[in-house]
Amino acid sequence: MKIFIDSGDIGEIREAQSMGVIDGVTTNPSLLAKAGKPTKVAIAEICEVVDGPISAEVVAIDKDGILREGRELVKIHKNVVVKVPLIDEGLKAVRVFTQEGIKTNVTLCFSPAQALLAAKAGATYISPFVGRIDDTAGDGMDLISQIVTIYKNYNFTTEVLTASVRHPVHFVQAAMMGAHVATLPLKVIKQLTKHPLTDIGLKQFLEDAKKIPQS
Ligand code: E4P
Repeated sequence: MKIFIDSGDIGEIREAQSMGVIDGVTTNPSLLAKAGKPTKVAIAEICEVVDGPISAEVVAIDKDGILREGRELVKIHKNVVVKVPLIDEGLKAVRVFTQEGIKTNVTLCFSPAQALLAAKAGATYISPFVGRIDDTAGDGMDLISQIVTIYKNYNFTTEVLTASVRHPVHFVQAAMMGAHVATLPLKVIKQLTKHPLTDIGLKQFLEDAKKIPQS
């Protein structure tokens, strides 16, 4: 499973990249607002740090506006993927982007029906938001399982990008279910390496290492 970092913060992205486990980056307007830089500047900076798919979201909500913005975003760098909201106008734009060879990440997906339509429009990635579903007493991971099954049933090439990941269990379940990608905040990436038995074992090894004769 590919791991993307879900962040607009260049410091966080550098930190994750230095761990050697990052395949790409997802951003959204909320994350970029926190970064406090113009979108094009922030995305260009991210593209210098990570050599992989970098999702940059449009804010237009009509087909022509989405196409206009997306075509500008892909000029920033060859790795830019245009993130498009899962609305009717978004799907119309995804169809055109697909014909033009522009990669898309269809975002704000909350149902298997939406995911099926995005795949039919030719989306490169579909982003179901698991944490936000859990927040409303639903089961976000159940949605991932449904989408993976549907895509396999019909051999869709759209990749399932598990988004709105809140904790390591989401990550492990996504891998078990066969999601192609999980995008994680830095906090969750850091949680993944943690295990108390690793810390206890390391402490013991370091103590015992002092007892090894040096010559
Ligand atoms: C995905 O691409 C989104 O940027 C993100 O995962 C949303 O996460 P949130 O629900 O924690 O805001």
